[in-house]
Amino acid sequence: MEEHIFNIEGLTHQFADGTFAIKDLSLTVQQGKKIALLGNNGAGKSTLFLHLNGLLQPTSGTIRYKGKKIKYDRKALLSLRKQVGIVFQDPDSQLFSANVQQDISFGPMNLGWERNVVHEKVQWAMAQTEVTELKDRPTHFLSLGQKKRVAIAGVLAMEPDVWLLDEPTAGLDPYFSRQIMALLDSIHHPDKTIILSTHDVNLAYQWADEVVVMNDGKVIYQGDPVSVFHDEAVLMRAHLEKPWVFEMFQALLQSRIPAEKNLVPRTKEELLRKIQRERIY
Ligand SMILES: Nc1ncnc2c1ncn2[C@@H]1O[C@H](COP(=O)(O)OP(=O)(O)OP(=O)(O)O)[C@@H](O)[C@H]1O
Ligand SMILES: [Mg+2]
Repeated sequence: MEEHIFNIEGLTHQFADGTFAIKDLSLTVQQGKKIALLGNNGAGKSTLFLHLNGLLQPTSGTIRYKGKKIKYDRKALLSLRKQVGIVFQDPDSQLFSANVQQDISFGPMNLGWERNVVHEKVQWAMAQTEVTELKDRPTHFLSLGQKKRVAIAGVLAMEPDVWLLDEPTAGLDPYFSRQIMALLDSIHHPDKTIILSTHDVNLAYQWADEVVVMNDGKVIYQGDPVSVFHDEAVLMRAHLEKPWVFEMFQALLQSRIPAEKNLVPRTKEELLRKIQRERIY
């Protein structure tokens, strides 16, 4: 039987100013999945993440981790955070030590590991995220993409069972985006669960084995990454576009491959028009 990592039932969160960010949300997350969390700005993705490792407490409803209700005393939270690592959307909320290496070491040191083990894990995590050459730099002078990679290294060094990544590739250049996704593929394992929020539908489409879509504090879709892009109502509500590969394939299904090769399309729309001219029905 597949193990449930999270069981969320009737989760509601109201912030101090009265805003309801999560409204009676229910969701089950199975162990070992690679889940893309999609949704429009303000849908509640970041607020949900903050509940999953105990940084926010529900206004009402319950969250179970591996079948047990999350508790909020110091000891229980420490144990939860050993297992559930979070990379914040805004790296400035994550990084606070004087320099990069100290920041990445902070989490593993709190796990009570031996000094040499911490050192080894930190060196490894820095190499994996290509931040080794930044190790003595103050974190507050780093570029956004550098900060993101340092934040990811900090979680990597703790080797959590569950990864919550809030828009990990936003602000990364294409090279580092690919590297981070390759890193996530390399750590993925039947015992590891990864939930990643993103506005990049192309990334979600090619990477995820399950897609969860949020809108207005609720889950409006959970399922496979192909079906969701057939669901026009969900796409519209969550401000989602179709991945270009998906759209291209839809067009190709209705056409012959275009014969003229001299007019190279520069945009997706030009390419689509070209293919659609060749439609056979
Ligand atoms: N600390 C807070 N106090 C009051 N309202 C908040 C707070 N944090 C978030 N919100 C509100 O809660 C709602 C959900 O915000 P959240 O940041 O979870 O959305 P999101 O899906 O992560 O959006 P984005 O795609 O822009 O990152 C929004 O209406 C937001 O304005
Ligand atoms: Mg967010």
